[in-house]
Amino acid sequence: MRLHLKIWRQAGPTEPGRLVDYVADHVSTDMSFLEMLDVVNEDLVKKGQDAIAFDSDCREGICGMCSLVINGVPHGPDRGTTVCQLHMRRFRDGDTVVIEPWRAKAFPVVKDLVVDRSAFDRIIAAGGYVSINCGGAQDGNAIPIAKDVVESAMDSAACIGCGACVAACKNASAHLFMSAKISHLAQLPQGQVERGRRVLSMVAQADAEGFGSCSNEGECEAVCPKEIPISNIARMTREYVRALLSSDR
Ligand code: SF4
Ligand code: FES
Repeated sequence: MRLHLKIWRQAGPTEPGRLVDYVADHVSTDMSFLEMLDVVNEDLVKKGQDAIAFDSDCREGICGMCSLVINGVPHGPDRGTTVCQLHMRRFRDGDTVVIEPWRAKAFPVVKDLVVDRSAFDRIIAAGGYVSINCGGAQDGNAIPIAKDVVESAMDSAACIGCGACVAACKNASAHLFMSAKISHLAQLPQGQVERGRRVLSMVAQADAEGFGSCSNEGECEAVCPKEIPISNIARMTREYVRALLSSDR
């Protein structure tokens, strides 16, 4: 296939950016989207030009590093799929593909398609952990937890912190990301110690980082590669009110 690419190029955080046209030739349908960009970059390097900067690590859909907006959709056209797991068979010969970085005030562009997502790390540092000493691995039956609660907590724990939910939201809200961690820990016995403090601290940190609020549009859920349900945000809101009304903070 031959594809026409329009890729966001920006030399640095304070430099102006623009879409630059490239042609990707001999693209195999079996390539992943990132492999296609690797080939474009090899060609640029051979020509002595600056390679396009983009993030990736595991390339297996588990680390959350790959972060591209493809034709206006964070992570591209496949539902429940990270960019690294998106394959070129999803595109047709002659297609024009527009590739941009996440767009959010709290995720400033570092270079080209790379954004600084350390704001997420600071939100997790504010409360997305348990501080109790768990000691060594315990017998599986030592802390009985109902199976439906375990399943629900694990579904929330599937968030990989990619930030697509923020990129898709017109308010650049981090609510789906925060609610996944808060729901995960609020449902488990180990998460009870800091339950109230956690939600108040994480929401305060998200506000300080410049993320917006939630207006229930649902774009976050639609683009989430781990299909984290928006019902987690409702649980986070209940947790927030509970924390405000209780002495547990
Ligand atoms: S909630 Fe989904 S979209 Fe948001 S950071 Fe987690 S995995 Fe990514
Ligand atoms: S590179 Fe790790 S999830 Fe895509």
